[in-house]
Amino acid sequence: MSSSIGENGAEFLIVANRLPVDLERLPDGTQRWKHSPGGLVSALEPFLRTRSGAWVGWPGIADAEVEAFEEDGLQLHPVALSAAEVADYYEGFSNGTLWPLYHDVVAPPAFHRHWWNAYVRVNQRFADVTAKVAAHGATVWVQDYQLQLVPAMLRELRPDLRIGFFLHIPFPPVELFMQLPWRTEIIRGLLGADLVGFHRPGGAQNFLWLARRLVGLEPSRGAVGVRTRPGVVQVGDRTVRVGAFPISIDSAGLDALARDKEVQKHAKQIREDLGNPKKILLGVDRLDYTKGIDVRLRALHELLADGRVDPTDVTMIQLATPSRERVEHYKQMRGEIEQAVGRINGEFSTVGHPVVHYLHQSVDKRELTAFMSAADVMVVTPVRDGMNLVCKEYVATRYDLGGALVLSEFAGAAAELTSAFLVNPHDLDGVKNALESALTLDPAEGRRRMRALRRQVLTHDVDRWARSFLDALGTQPAI
Ligand code: ADP
Ligand code: G6P
Repeated sequence: MSSSIGENGAEFLIVANRLPVDLERLPDGTQRWKHSPGGLVSALEPFLRTRSGAWVGWPGIADAEVEAFEEDGLQLHPVALSAAEVADYYEGFSNGTLWPLYHDVVAPPAFHRHWWNAYVRVNQRFADVTAKVAAHGATVWVQDYQLQLVPAMLRELRPDLRIGFFLHIPFPPVELFMQLPWRTEIIRGLLGADLVGFHRPGGAQNFLWLARRLVGLEPSRGAVGVRTRPGVVQVGDRTVRVGAFPISIDSAGLDALARDKEVQKHAKQIREDLGNPKKILLGVDRLDYTKGIDVRLRALHELLADGRVDPTDVTMIQLATPSRERVEHYKQMRGEIEQAVGRINGEFSTVGHPVVHYLHQSVDKRELTAFMSAADVMVVTPVRDGMNLVCKEYVATRYDLGGALVLSEFAGAAAELTSAFLVNPHDLDGVKNALESALTLDPAEGRRRMRALRRQVLTHDVDRWARSFLDALGTQPAI
């Protein structure tokens, strides 16, 4: 197989809500494509670019009628959404119902029937487009919570396909999942796949329990392992496997980028621009209420107020990519975070030296790598996160064994990055203590920790993740 775009369609397809590129309408009426936000695209894009394949997804703005096109050897198949569908399917059911429900209801999910109806309609459209462009017997890998009905819909249209599904966010405890009025439909939708993948064995286990309880199936009872011992459930004459596959990053690529002389020069420049503080703290997130940006700001505020951190020694940079800006919880949280930044700077900054630098912006990969190289402490404090790639990216950039990682126990990555300073983001004193320990870390101890973290991240990269999933699915795309 030299190319996966066969004469009669693609032989390997990713189906995700977003295309890897996002269409942007500029004020002068012109349009341009930019890199899509979020961990799903960060992880999958480098993997897919090294293979030929197709990607079915939404171009990121309403009512964009775009023809299929090729970019860097990747065949992109846009799925159009109307403004009402963006409001009801994307902002509504995906990000107003499923996102908070699956993240342990850290914000209250809303249940609206018209949101659900839009979700069903849009999932059907994704299935229809995929059915049209997939070659006979192709492998289709459906991604994430926005498309949980696609596996069953696609199987109905194209029983010849091999279908995998991977959930990039946490799968919730069953008691929370049971709140969903359309819980059975979602489980049936996922059971259309040959392999359903989660980050952690707990998610797989919860799903198997629900398949028994809601669909009356008889799943296997053994413990699901990480990349091993998937659960099994028989659905009619099909066997569906259910496993745990923790996602990762292009570790070697990022390690190489961090070693680039220009990137290192830029990192030095960042430090100088900040007035050469003794310590730089860094946060990098989509501006999302699950990320615990408020937690780290509160901890820093109290450390400064307690006199445990000297504002002339420490600077914090918070990079926050704009995200889901029309969804109510996001609007509210943005205001709260900007207020918290303002309060810290108002109380502790001096002219020309703000304690917190807050950028509500996305930066490019080289610049982000320079920020990570410059940071003495990376602060990752989500109240719930399926995996969290930012912490793995930080580790990959620290070839010098410098820096320290403060990481929430509630990120999927905590199970792998056990040499980080692990914190419970609900325990403010614990977060403060961890920040202080990281800021005053003995360099030899820091190197020991970072060496252990790097051993994990460099040997478990995104390629290994994709291979383990596709092996379990019983297929490999063209290489
Ligand atoms: P999520 O998928 O929920 O956004 P992850 O941590 O898994 O969270 O992935 C986020 C991805 O987006 C990472 O690759 C990270 O580098 C990138 N990212 C986050 N914030 C920014 C930013 N301000 N500028 C550039 N990239 C960012
Ligand atoms: C997370 C989700 C992805 C999503 C990304 C960005 O990584 O798991 O599915 O694409 O956030 O969010 P957005 O709503 O902008 O696509």
